[in-house]
Amino acid sequence: MSETLRVGIGEDVAAAAVATPAASRLLRQNPIGPPGSPRQVGAGQAKARLVGLFAGMVAAAVVVVVGILAGTGELAAPPPGLPGPDPLVRFGLPVARTVHDLTASLTVGLLVLAVWAVAPEPRTAPTRLAGVRLAMVRAASVSAGAWLMSAVAVLVFTVADIAGVSVRSAGFLEVLASFASTVDLGRALWVSVLLVIVVAAVTTMSSRVVTAAWAAGLALLALLPLALTGHASGSTDHQNSVSSLALHLIGVAVWVGGLGALLLMARTLGSQLPAVVRRYSTLAGWCFVLVTLSGLVNAWLRLGSLSALTSVYGLLVLGKIAALGLLGLAGWRHRTAVIPRLDGSGGRRAFLRLAGVELLVMGATMGLAVALSRSAPPLGEHVVQHGGEALLGFPVPPPMTAVTYLTKSHVDLLWLSVAAAALGWYLLAALRLRRRGESWAPLRTVSWVAGCLALVFLTSGGPAVYGRVSFSGHMLQHLGLMIVVPLLLVPAEPIKLALRSIAPRPDGSVGVRETLLTVLHSRPLRVLGDPIVAAQLIIGTLVASYYYTGAFTFSMFTHTGHVLMTALFLLTGYLSMWAFLGVDRGPASRPGTPRLRLLLLGLTGLFFAAFGFTLMGSETVLAIDWWAQLGLVDQASLLHDQQAGGKIAAAAGFLPLLVLGIAVATRRAHSGVLAGTVQHR
Ligand code: HEM
Repeated sequence: MSETLRVGIGEDVAAAAVATPAASRLLRQNPIGPPGSPRQVGAGQAKARLVGLFAGMVAAAVVVVVGILAGTGELAAPPPGLPGPDPLVRFGLPVARTVHDLTASLTVGLLVLAVWAVAPEPRTAPTRLAGVRLAMVRAASVSAGAWLMSAVAVLVFTVADIAGVSVRSAGFLEVLASFASTVDLGRALWVSVLLVIVVAAVTTMSSRVVTAAWAAGLALLALLPLALTGHASGSTDHQNSVSSLALHLIGVAVWVGGLGALLLMARTLGSQLPAVVRRYSTLAGWCFVLVTLSGLVNAWLRLGSLSALTSVYGLLVLGKIAALGLLGLAGWRHRTAVIPRLDGSGGRRAFLRLAGVELLVMGATMGLAVALSRSAPPLGEHVVQHGGEALLGFPVPPPMTAVTYLTKSHVDLLWLSVAAAALGWYLLAALRLRRRGESWAPLRTVSWVAGCLALVFLTSGGPAVYGRVSFSGHMLQHLGLMIVVPLLLVPAEPIKLALRSIAPRPDGSVGVRETLLTVLHSRPLRVLGDPIVAAQLIIGTLVASYYYTGAFTFSMFTHTGHVLMTALFLLTGYLSMWAFLGVDRGPASRPGTPRLRLLLLGLTGLFFAAFGFTLMGSETVLAIDWWAQLGLVDQASLLHDQQAGGKIAAAAGFLPLLVLGIAVATRRAHSGVLAGTVQHR
């Protein structure tokens, strides 16, 4: 076992001892320095303090969750004669969920900081994990192990809780298996368990930074199925409940996990601590905003009115707001007093002390959060929606007219957040260039703003509302996402702006700029950015989404499917426009000649038209179950609407052909002009 690793493990897995007897055995077998040496004693005391801190955090969380649920009667035994979960399940589920959320956060925090905040070891290849980064990724494999155990416990106890059976009862495993394979909640928890297994395996074996980065992404992904469970699944506005909780969980995991990782690895980070703390502080600031906004939105969707704040659920929400206030204060103190003095004497101790208190408050807040998710909200499950409104999460719109198409709306918080973040980043980056005296063409900014607004209109405006109740509306929305939004965003050259506005990291660590360069140089992007591949991608997406895969029906019935389809159309559209237009390539490979790109654009257009004509000739109604659920059963009008969708696709196909036509005509008129214009300015 390498010296760096042993030291890393010895010093930092102390807290993990909280989670696994194996780690505590490791601690005993690997003393630091000769017995009784000041370093050995110092290290021993530090380990004890660390174990104490993490034990304290878990204890605070468990005491809070059990205390609250006991107080609200959620842990009470079912009335005699009535079936219900036994004490093991009643107490085990909230405790397992709390440990789950804590270990999930720690795993995410360790991986995110190891990959995006810590500098590589001197004299080692920056792409390889070594020293501190390796110790952090290995520590993440230990916490991922604890996460896995608690995730399995959550799945087992959830089944027992809902089925009202004991985990020891005969046939429980069959019940568990059928629950995990046939019930949405069971499937979501099972998918999360499988993702955690992959994270644990990857963090145990990975030796490259890029692999650890994928593990961090997978760990965040493993949190998302949880947003589909709990109250989000039954609430009135299911779509936004799930999205806001998903954003909330991501913000919490990076924020709480990052601080836990900092404290766990403070000694190993050594002289790197100040730089890593500063990078974490920026991240924590954004997480604070994300957690606050998503938490308030989520709470509002369940409370529905301010008067509901007097309910048990409302009071718990107020408790969380107070805890957030405390954490905000700690964050402000870090920024104004502690971090500026971090390099000075006593600075480190001041940081560790405040961060330790903060971690305990975060532990208690996590306990409060689980108690909240186990308490009945005053709204949602009690408000009954009927027919289409229950399915859509919003009232069924009147027949589509130009006016209703432009005026109807149902805000999609997820894509609204994406558009707002993209717009905010772009304007700040362009401003930074301007402040540096560098020019940035205003037309690019206008194009980007228009692209973000188009995204909001297509995902929250009339296109989104009618995209759920009519095939032609769905086609119009998705072609808008695939063609209009990318056609506005790509010419705004965001890659060029990012590479010019973000400063490179001075110490070899991986920041946003370095991550972008890695992606731009990567083989997958070289392939996907090739216009020949891009043409196949955009055609394949269109065909596979509507035909042969069931993706269309899946995207209509499930929130996950809906989000994935929107993301797929946006992404393939963006990649194709990026390849066809040949601008904003940065260091990525050149995308073929303008002639080849125009030709491919034309062919793609032809294909869209052919696809449209196929739909216009179709006799089979696509996603018929969905329309039936909405009460739309008249086959003739469904087919008529589907054929209208076909006309829209055909018309969309003529757009590129039009561009091709204009280009050829212009070329004829001004031969030699075209090549110049699309060259990289
Ligand atoms: C403005 C402050 C906050 C509000 C209004 C808020 C609101 C919420 C709401 C409504 C939920 C969903 C509960 C349910 O399923 O019914 C939730 C979940 C959660 N919140 Fe917050 N929150 C806030 C701050 C925080 C903070 C500061 C943390 C952690 C430090 C946190 C951690 C969590 C966690 C871990 C969950 C998921 C619990 C689970 O189901 O496992 N929240 N929050």
